[in-house]
Amino acid sequence: MKVDTLIHGIRRLYTMDPGREGLGLIEHASIATYKNNVAWIGPSKDAPEASTIIHGTGLVGLPGLIDPHTHGIWAGSRSNEFARRLAGEDYADILESGGGILSTVDATREASVEAMSACLDARLRHMRDRGVTTVETKSGYGLEVATERRMLSAMRSMPSVPDIVRTYLGGHTIPREYRSNRDAYVRQIIEEQLPVCAPLADFVDVYCDRGAFNKDEAVAILKAGKAHGLKVRAHAEQVTHTGIAEAAAKLGAICLDHLERIDDAGIAAMADAGTVAVLLPGAQLYLKDTAPPVDAFRAAGIPIAIGTDLNPGSSPIHDIWTVATLACLIQGLTIEEAILGITRNAAKALDLPRHGWLGKGSVASIALFAPPPGEPATVESLVQHMGSFGAKVVIQNGKQVI
Ligand code: NIG
Ligand code: FE
Repeated sequence: MKVDTLIHGIRRLYTMDPGREGLGLIEHASIATYKNNVAWIGPSKDAPEASTIIHGTGLVGLPGLIDPHTHGIWAGSRSNEFARRLAGEDYADILESGGGILSTVDATREASVEAMSACLDARLRHMRDRGVTTVETKSGYGLEVATERRMLSAMRSMPSVPDIVRTYLGGHTIPREYRSNRDAYVRQIIEEQLPVCAPLADFVDVYCDRGAFNKDEAVAILKAGKAHGLKVRAHAEQVTHTGIAEAAAKLGAICLDHLERIDDAGIAAMADAGTVAVLLPGAQLYLKDTAPPVDAFRAAGIPIAIGTDLNPGSSPIHDIWTVATLACLIQGLTIEEAILGITRNAAKALDLPRHGWLGKGSVASIALFAPPPGEPATVESLVQHMGSFGAKVVIQNGKQVI
């Protein structure tokens, strides 16, 4: 067997391997990697020889974590809006009156591709330091051809730490200059933005809600994205129920996000299509919203993933561990479901079958964590304590980055 690196003596390794039971726990485990692959995994006493050895004594091992929903590029600040919402103003009202996403659009249109890359790089490094090796991130603060393209170009210019999945979100909201001519903006997306942006992206996304697109507009945008070869996802049923979850699932959506107000027809369509539910507890908390129907997802067998939804307005949270804990506290997930939600099911949400688990055939992206001081090396301890202490070791595609 060819081996480059051995990560040796991990106190508890949760492989998340679907071929193993539960979280695929191996106590006192080792993993051998070769190039970008896991070459061997098992009890430390049986580990193969390797020229490079990394010690995992006392640590918790997991596949590199995956954040399946972020808005990692923006300029400007909306901290003033936070104060307004604390004083009782509503998120959708602020957006409808020209603030919210639109104020971030004003600032982002002014930003150069270098400035965008610099802020994304800083945010990604912060995530990597907490054990995240794959991040989905979106355009959507340009709402015009040039800035949407610049956002996607900035994503493509990143050194691949973590791995990035790129989403085109020109359908985030209707820009100010088209508020009285919405059809023309939908036409601009379909006829001008998508031909330029689709080749730079993996997914098409749309925000279907009050203050943004209605269901027919959203379906037209998703269909056009799909015709360009993009995978389909949507911000669905968040502030109001629109029926977009059912319609997008019928278009073959890989995942659908938010879902606080999804109905039975939407759930049935997601189950039929094998669509993943991406829960965003940060947005629920910041908007003082209600929880999505987690019991109904479970009953329908819909896989549940969790994202930070990192953005300057509704979820200014960079830390995947914080949202894993919040998903348990305010959405009713179990600890097992929370861990699945930031590993294997997050990979499903991004259509990455070799990510989010560790075993024969998986990529060699691995994160090791110390438990909080005085706690045992278990995922229960890591999820119970809010926020991250940082990863001790991060291997990204076979290369040690921390
Ligand atoms: O996922 N809901 C719409 N979009 C984002 C918020 C973006 C923003 O407020 O800037 C979300 O919550
Ligand atoms: Fe979002």
